[in-house]
Amino acid sequence: MNASENPTARRPDGQDAGRIVIFDTTLRDGEQSPGASMNLDEKLRVAEALEAMGVDVIEAGFPIASNGDFEAVEAIARVVKDSTVCGLARASKKDIERAAMALKPARRKRIHTFISTSPLHMRAKLQMEPEAVHQAVIDSVSFARKFTDDVEWSCEDGTRTEHDFMCRCIESAIKAGATTINIPDTVGYSVPEEFGALIRMVMNRVPNIDKAIVSTHCHNDLGLAVANSLAGVANGARQVECTINGLGERAGNAALEEIVMTLRTRYDKMPFTTGIKTEHLTKASRLVSQVTGLQVQANKAIVGANAFAHESGIHQDGMLKNASTYEIMTPESVGLSESKLVMGKHSGRHAFRNKLEELGFTLDAAKLDEAFVAFKALADKKKDIYDEDIVALIDEEAREHDHIRVVSLQVIAGTKGPQTAELELEIDGVVRWHKAHGDGPVDATFKAIRALVPNTATLQLYQVHAVTEGTDAQAEVTVRLYEDGKSVNGLGADTDTLVASAKAYVNALNKLLVKRQKRAPEALSA
Ligand code: KIV
Ligand code: ZN
Repeated sequence: MNASENPTARRPDGQDAGRIVIFDTTLRDGEQSPGASMNLDEKLRVAEALEAMGVDVIEAGFPIASNGDFEAVEAIARVVKDSTVCGLARASKKDIERAAMALKPARRKRIHTFISTSPLHMRAKLQMEPEAVHQAVIDSVSFARKFTDDVEWSCEDGTRTEHDFMCRCIESAIKAGATTINIPDTVGYSVPEEFGALIRMVMNRVPNIDKAIVSTHCHNDLGLAVANSLAGVANGARQVECTINGLGERAGNAALEEIVMTLRTRYDKMPFTTGIKTEHLTKASRLVSQVTGLQVQANKAIVGANAFAHESGIHQDGMLKNASTYEIMTPESVGLSESKLVMGKHSGRHAFRNKLEELGFTLDAAKLDEAFVAFKALADKKKDIYDEDIVALIDEEAREHDHIRVVSLQVIAGTKGPQTAELELEIDGVVRWHKAHGDGPVDATFKAIRALVPNTATLQLYQVHAVTEGTDAQAEVTVRLYEDGKSVNGLGADTDTLVASAKAYVNALNKLLVKRQKRAPEALSA
């Protein structure tokens, strides 16, 4: 199909009919993934990476959800200049006012307001009659327009909504001032043909649809989020909502990297373009994985560790003769390069700063000094330092707002026992010490932490992997803690696996403190 021949292709904002708006919701829907909470610094780093990558709209959070969400949206609105910054709000004045307040500093801002429209959600969740929901659509969109010209409206549970009612709500939302209409497959229930037909139905039946951009928001419960989103594009949608690594509620959302690389690789079949600099995809994927503690599965399309690896002899032989025998896109096009040996203990401050800039980190002088000291300490323990080591090191250094920090750890391990951990933690500026015995050194270390920071969280996951190759590689540890229906992932990196474990546990505890401030998830279902 040719985008310019497609009668349903419209861009009311005057953009080329084949240009797809990439709306990234890693920081909102993605952060709703179990365990994926991020602190302020981490959210800012992700937002900066999304902006550098060319994302059109960054959904930065749900400002009414907590003070932490509000502050994050406000901070992102302050620093992001090239992308539109978006805040989510339910169909209520309070939500919309809070979103508008958080977005105030943004150069380009969008309020995204939503309400459920399916019979099931209206009856069971909202306990509202359809007429009242329809009125709430008009009221919420009109109210949001008082704060910005860029208002998106979503019909939550769109794929289980009756078509007549959906068309009526969309028409009214556009009349009230909505400029983007988002059709979510909230429960990931649709199949591509059906979802494409739904978008086409909206394009054909809503009389004023030419005044808005139609958007997809597909969840991945059946593994069809990307296929459904692309079917939506083929039928007239010109915005795709997606996340890095496909993060999101339950099985996640459509993966940004898969949407973008499909459009780039199969332009012959889907002649649409995006503004994404695809060479940033691998870096963004690693950053999101690192700050959320959610590892990317090895065989994940585009950004998995095996996505460009060739194991079988026949494939390797073919690749050596001509890479396109088994490769439909180049590793370079997604920013994948060999792990580069970068530095060692003789590398200077200047080279270190250049390397950080190349990796996308800009630190002020004081932070650069601290990072350089940490780099020298690492270089004393580890001969060769790779890009991945530096990324892990900066991630550790970026935890300046944490309430709890690991000061020191001494462990007795081995066959003789008892395995013992002597631990010093700094808690809100005060250093405290504890010695604990355990069933192994990790158990002893975690017992010492629990003695210093009593909590009822249960340990759901403990995972170790090496950042790079070699026996002197840094260990990267993931710890998942669960408390009161909420789970968080903590990450720690160090050349000593036990120190990395302590850092990961403490990182998870810090995130739990942030999570405790959030409201109950059922009150905020989105
Ligand atoms: O999945 C969903 O329906 C949502 C809406 C808030 C767009 O996340
Ligand atoms: Zn969603």
